[in-house]
Amino acid sequence: MNNLKKSDPKIYNIIKLEEKRQKEGIELIASENYVSKPVLEAMGSILTNKYSEGYPGKRYYGGNQIIDQAESLAVNRAKKLFGAEHINVQPLSGSPANLAVYMALLNPGDKVLGFSLDQGGHLSHGHPLNFSGKLYKIIPYFVNRKTEVIDMDEVERIALREGPKMILAGFSAYSRDMDWKRFKEIADKVGAFTFADIAHIAGLIAGGQLESPVPYFDVVSTTTHKTLRGPRGAMIMCKEEFAKAIDRAVFPGVQGGPHDHINAAKAVAFGEALKPSFKKYSSQVIKNAKALSSALQKRGYRIISGGTDNHLMLVDVYGSKNITGKEAEHTLEEVGISINKNMIPFDPRKPLDPSGIRLGTPAVTTRGAKEKDMEKIAKFIDEALMAKNNASVLNKIGKQVKTFSLQFPVPGIK
Ligand SMILES: Cc1ncc(COP(=O)(O)O)c(C=O)c1O
Repeated sequence: MNNLKKSDPKIYNIIKLEEKRQKEGIELIASENYVSKPVLEAMGSILTNKYSEGYPGKRYYGGNQIIDQAESLAVNRAKKLFGAEHINVQPLSGSPANLAVYMALLNPGDKVLGFSLDQGGHLSHGHPLNFSGKLYKIIPYFVNRKTEVIDMDEVERIALREGPKMILAGFSAYSRDMDWKRFKEIADKVGAFTFADIAHIAGLIAGGQLESPVPYFDVVSTTTHKTLRGPRGAMIMCKEEFAKAIDRAVFPGVQGGPHDHINAAKAVAFGEALKPSFKKYSSQVIKNAKALSSALQKRGYRIISGGTDNHLMLVDVYGSKNITGKEAEHTLEEVGISINKNMIPFDPRKPLDPSGIRLGTPAVTTRGAKEKDMEKIAKFIDEALMAKNNASVLNKIGKQVKTFSLQFPVPGIK
């Protein structure tokens, strides 16, 4: 970045500081990951100079013969990964992708069944301040109070009672397998569209570790970052019968020109995900999550639903150790461990200072961490939380975290 260093040292220095933070810390935010150098190179390329409203072969601007090749490669590689009938790779991010799906399938005011936000659903699944909550009538479904697993019989009861036009299955903070087939059976009983948002687990599905909703569902959206380890962005997969409506909803419904540099980087990431090494990676992500979850349990932390089937877990730090989610996030940040506070199901506390924290293993696994390293991470977490505000203890743990992290290279950072 010699040119940037000379022309804009302020931004250059900010990037260098963030590089240092990413290298020296332990990244456990479940939605984050480290992309490869080739993905970074495609994102930073001159493809950003082009405008290409429309789709390959049908553009509203000239000079798109080469861009068409990049977008088509992204689509074809994504089809190989997920086996979908139709894919639109243009959505700029997860929320606009979801907006396009709602627009394609529904009218404002229509009823949607979605996973309760305070139990793991995403903002775009019906938060009152989000377009989804403002434009549509959202009916939530919940986990079972005892098992903390989504109660499919309850989903069916609510669907039969409410008769929604669409059933949305997907999450930002849920650690158990989804019963896609049962969701589809319920939707068929009430004549509802099926929409899966696999933003968090797309990489685990692409790597063959979790079951895919693609064979069952009408429409499936995903971000291309997170476990899929591509650039920030999204895509929508659907059955052929919804292809036209989805494409129209993305452009001109929600967006203008696609980000061609990002779409090329999506193609690069999909190419990486098609390699056998990605299967190994995604399997290790889950092994690490299970190892971290049981190491924390051994130290007396309650894991919501008793464990994890995917890359993430919710830890009831308040119920287990009388530390709030906000205090835990702050204390762990002090020692260089990034996590986020999170509501747990039926949380007695408020969203800004909830009972839980959410931890995920996609980023540390990309750096090469294995099960035995999860024991060490659990030890750092426990010792830091027990030290609470003792600055000298936190300082000592912070140094150990840095030494530990520097053993593991970060793909995009020297
Ligand atoms: C399930 C789910 N859907 C959609 C999104 C939104 O993605 P973005 O932040 O790219 O808009 C997220 C982001 O965390 C998510 O977890």
